[in-house]
This record gives sequence, C-alpha cells and structure tokens, in this order.
Amino acid sequence: MKSEKLFNKAIKIFPGGVNSPVRYYSPYPRFIKGGKGQKIWDVDGNFYDDYVLAYGPLILGHANKTISRAIAERSQKGTMFGAPTEEELKLGEIISKSAKLDMLRFVNSGGEATYHALRLSRFVTKRKKILKVKGGYHGTHDFNYPGEFVKEIDFNDSQSLKNELSSREYAAFILEPVMGNVGVVLPQDGYLQDVREYTEKFGTIYISDEVITGFRTKFGIYSDKYEPDLVTLGKIIGGGTPLAAYGGKEEIMKNVKPAGEFKQAGTYSGNPLSVTAGLAALRILSRKDYGKLNYLSNVAAGILEKSGVRVNMVTGMLSMHFSSEEVTNYSRIDLKLYYQIWSKLFPYVLNSGIFIAPSPEETMFISFSHTLKDITRDMDIIAGRVEEIWKS
Ligand SMILES: Cc1ncc(COP(=O)(O)O)c(C=O)c1O
Repeated sequence: MKSEKLFNKAIKIFPGGVNSPVRYYSPYPRFIKGGKGQKIWDVDGNFYDDYVLAYGPLILGHANKTISRAIAERSQKGTMFGAPTEEELKLGEIISKSAKLDMLRFVNSGGEATYHALRLSRFVTKRKKILKVKGGYHGTHDFNYPGEFVKEIDFNDSQSLKNELSSREYAAFILEPVMGNVGVVLPQDGYLQDVREYTEKFGTIYISDEVITGFRTKFGIYSDKYEPDLVTLGKIIGGGTPLAAYGGKEEIMKNVKPAGEFKQAGTYSGNPLSVTAGLAALRILSRKDYGKLNYLSNVAAGILEKSGVRVNMVTGMLSMHFSSEEVTNYSRIDLKLYYQIWSKLFPYVLNSGIFIAPSPEETMFISFSHTLKDITRDMDIIAGRVEEIWKS
C-alpha cells in the first residue's frame, strides 16, 4: 500500500504524520491524489464519494473547471504583490453585500479571522473577557479554550448567557449560529434573538462565527436577520484556497489600521490567487439553487434516520446523534459512545468507497456536485452499518 509507505515517512517529519490532527486515523490515513466533483481518489487507486469536502469549503465539489481556470490564469500574471488588486475589491463587494457587512478585512484562515475579531472586540470595548459556547470551535488560538479570560456556557442556554453578560465584563460573545464542530446542533427558536438582545443590552460584541455556515445554507450568512456586530467567514469564500475574512459594523471595523489604531496585518491577506478563486466560486454560487442542496440534505437525513439515530441537519450539512433525547448542546453528547460507534462505522464506510470524517464530532457536508443517486446509495450503506452497530 503506497499510503502506508508514505505515512511511514510522514510520521518522521510531521507530528502524528499529518498537518492537522483530524486527518489522522488508525492505522494510517489514505493519501489523496486527486478529486473531481464529489469524488476523490487515493494514491492506491481507490475512489470515494466525498462527504468531508475538505471540512466544508468545497460546496461546488473538487476541481471545479471555472475555478481551476481562474486560478491558472491568475497564476500566470503573478500570485502576490503586497498591494491592492481589483479582484479583492470585487470579492469584497460581493461578500459585503450578500453577508450584509459594512466593512471587512481579508485574512487567510478561519482561525485568524476569529482571533482578530476577538482582539478587535477587546480593543473596542476595553474589556478583557470572552464568552463562548461549550463545544464551539473557532480555530486553535488561546481564545478558543477556557482559561483566564475565556469562559464557556452551553449553546441554547439564554439564561446563562444573560447571567454572564450582566456582569458587563465581556468584550465578546462568539458562537457558531449552527454548531458544526460537535456534529450539527441547531439553535432553538428565539435563541439567536436572545443573543442579539442580551449582547446589545450589556455592551458585548456579538460575533457570529460563520466560517462553516457562511454561503453554505444560503448565499450569504445564516444569522443576518439577527444583525451580529462582527461576522467571521472562511472555507467557502476561498473557493478551495486559503481565504477568510472578518467584518461587520462600520463603527467597529473603522478601528482597524490604517483607518484606526487597531493593529492587524498579513503578508498573504487578500492573496490574489485566493481572491480570484473565491470570486469565481461566489459568482457560480450566486446563481445556484440552494433549494436543491436543501433537498439533497433532506434526502440524506431521511435515509440516515431510518437507522434509528437522530439526525440534525441544515442545508448542506448534517450529522448523526446517538442519543435518546434531542441534542441541543455539547453537554448532551456522550462522546465516549460516539467514538465507540465511529470506531466501527468509519473503517467500514471508508472501505465501501465513502469518505466521511474520521471523527464523530465533525459534520457531513453535501455539495452541489453530489447526485441523488450518490446520496441514496451512500446513505443507505452508512445507515445499514449504523443500524447494525446501534442495535448490537
Ligand atoms: C466555525 C469555525 N470557525 C473557525 C474555524 C477555523 O478555521 P481554519 O481551520 O480555517 O483556521 C473552523 C474550522 O473548522 C470552524 O469550523
């Protein structure tokens, strides 16, 4: 097996053999050679229907012709200048309009976007503390983990939110509007409304982390009607290349240097290759029917539910929950059970030519490239195996 040989070399130079922890699975991850549409293939010639989609960015599938051509053309005219380009302006305008952000700043990764949105919140409010949601993921910087300045409360718990914020000590409350890093967990009716109301009342900046949900559930952001103060975007806006952004209300964003005094900079920010890919992707997406993606996601959820498990779903993303009660926050998740099930599910599914995340805490993504036929076949296989495991 070529993957095994490559992994034996990789483990000597990369911690655990990989460049991001979720990519590892036992005994070794399959090394991927290429992808087209909803399919990927590995160095040993195995093909898979892909429901990982690089953890969310590839809503148009792999190697979209228009995006690939745009990247190739851009690369021949120079890949970076450390100066503004017309493409970054065009992409910025599309995002600003569709995500309803007065102003934004491009950065390179979702983690960078949330980090700077949180730093900016501290700068503007002159408060130190950050409130986040248990199980919420915003990148691997120190603000993502509870500690001296960071406290966590449960998702969908408006009362705890109100209690915490009423101290008026928090610079920001950051949350994913639909949790996507503990499987999918949806906001209950009224919750995001409460988030808006309490953050405003107590002078805390409301950051909607839409790194996953931005341009996934619709062309724009999930939480626009709640008018978050700041929004973070990543994944889809880069069309399969590293690009992210933070943005929002002008009165906050105008503090960013050189307009204001808040320091944030980046050699690769608004990189021409990335904004070109993002521009091509968003232009295609602006003409897509998200109703179709919703339909495919519903079909997938319906099939998985037949196995007797719970499925949480929004357009383009879904996950199974192994619980007798509705899963409304991370505290309701029995991780030990999830991992036990996954250890039996994941290898079987992989060997059946279906790529899902090796961790049950990740989400299953559907792209515009998936067909009803793929989804029916693949979800039947997954549901069949889950039913066997669930009942045993
Ligand atoms: C909601 C959310 N925010 C932030 C991040 C961090 O993004 P990146 O991996 O691009 O740094 C992720 C990554 O999965 C995410 O899901």
